[in-house]
Amino acid sequence: MPGPFDWDQSYEVRVPVIDAQHRDLLSSIKMAISQLSEENNPQELSPLLDGIAHGAGVHFKFEKDLMEAYADPRFQALRNEDTSLLPQLHRFKERDLAGVSIHKLEHVSAFVSVWLSTHINTQDRPLAAHLNLVGAKEAQA
Ligand SMILES: [Fe+2]
Repeated sequence: MPGPFDWDQSYEVRVPVIDAQHRDLLSSIKMAISQLSEENNPQELSPLLDGIAHGAGVHFKFEKDLMEAYADPRFQALRNEDTSLLPQLHRFKERDLAGVSIHKLEHVSAFVSVWLSTHINTQDRPLAAHLNLVGAKEAQA
């Protein structure tokens, strides 16, 4: 049965480079979470959160550059707007006083998986539609 971090066709926006980055982001999150769940020793949650934040930050930058390069009309509105992901990861970090627990991991997993589908549906589908409209080379399979 597919878990929250398994790739699902419904995540596809049909821009190969964006789909590939989402796949990579998902699989690195899945790997980090499953490694932590199997650890017997309490560990810091911070490296996991930093890793997610870093991967997502690189991805956001890539998408913003695409929006700018192809004059997506939403670019001006979005460029200064923070997404909910990075501030929330930061809040998780601030609460990380007693190391990892299954409960915390579940909380982080649930948040990140909801965030990803929201990100794809609200940010990336309109971007993909724009890239297709203007005939961007990235939108060609
Ligand atoms: Fe994305």
